[in-house]
Amino acid sequence: MTRPFGLLAELTYRCPLHCAYCSNPLNLADYRDELTTAEWRRVLAEARELGVLQLHLSGGEPLQRRDIVEIVRCATELGLYTNLITSALGLSRRRAEQLRAAGLDHVQISIQADLPAASDRIAGTPSFQRKLEVARLVKELGWPLTLNVVLHRHNIDSVAGILRLAEELRAERLELANTQYYGWAWRNRDALLPSRSQLDRAEAVARAARERLKGRMEIIYVRPDYYGQYPKPCMGGWGQRQLTVAPNGDVLPCPAAQALPLPHASVRTDTLAWIWTQSPLFQRFRGTHWMVDPCQSCARREIDFGGCRCQAFQLTGDAARTDPVCHLSPDHGIVAEAVQAANRETRPRTYPAEGGTTRSGGQDQIPDC
Ligand code: SF4
Ligand code: FES
Repeated sequence: MTRPFGLLAELTYRCPLHCAYCSNPLNLADYRDELTTAEWRRVLAEARELGVLQLHLSGGEPLQRRDIVEIVRCATELGLYTNLITSALGLSRRRAEQLRAAGLDHVQISIQADLPAASDRIAGTPSFQRKLEVARLVKELGWPLTLNVVLHRHNIDSVAGILRLAEELRAERLELANTQYYGWAWRNRDALLPSRSQLDRAEAVARAARERLKGRMEIIYVRPDYYGQYPKPCMGGWGQRQLTVAPNGDVLPCPAAQALPLPHASVRTDTLAWIWTQSPLFQRFRGTHWMVDPCQSCARREIDFGGCRCQAFQLTGDAARTDPVCHLSPDHGIVAEAVQAANRETRPRTYPAEGGTTRSGGQDQIPDC
């Protein structure tokens, strides 16, 4: 059995943004009882012992946790490489300097579009100017900067402008990642899925920029699953390389797996080592023994591991089926139909009004520390 390389620590699902493509779960009330600082300390120590080298601090918005500096300091002491994945809201100069002193290695900021009005509309809150200020602060403090843009029908035509912005902000890395359809994004899928011509144009722009900026900026472009012939090897294979710890201590092979009808595993009741090596949850889709045809007899079964279990469940109601994204899947028609619909319409659909964390209930207060 391989050891996990990366841990995605979802510190909280609270967030000041309300993105319609958010992939976090909709049942936020189930995650309000967040792990304490002491519990995170134990989780990080157990993760390091298990072989984890990279820690991705995410959410929601991880800066909503008042103990973020303490968590980073603990990770640094354990020798983990730390990456903060943030909307930038809540990163004051004082807090950034504290995180720098605590040893934070890398910052990734989400950007919604290249222009203020479009970006704020997609984020569901005024945030664009603040994101730019924080990106400049990140560079000033000497961190490597990644910008992450989730692409969809309403911003994919702005890839050229997004590239200009990334250059202006001197980002080392730009991730152009098409929306994954879980959580709110699944609900809003039909309004978010781009057309083939939009994708082709965006890909051509990204390809040319990758050539032009070689050695200066790394550009990652991730095609939407729905337009692929084969699925991607989701998470590098179930329980192979990565694990996720949700805000309430649930441990998952991937961030979307809460939705699957599988036994739960939690750091509140078991050790991370037991969960990784022996829990029924992590064993369920590890390797290839669980596969049915066409995957079981397919030459690509150890390349893509039958695709994404969460997507198979979402689209067919059975997590053990071949990912319908694969053109060999008997359920591929479900995906083909969604793609046809996205290409029938010539006018962009209205941007969805709902998404991300709720706008009520005090979920989105930005800590003043
Ligand atoms: Fe991958 Fe299964 Fe499709 Fe083969 S049939 S390419 S293993 S998803
Ligand atoms: Fe869960 Fe792909 S997102 S297996």
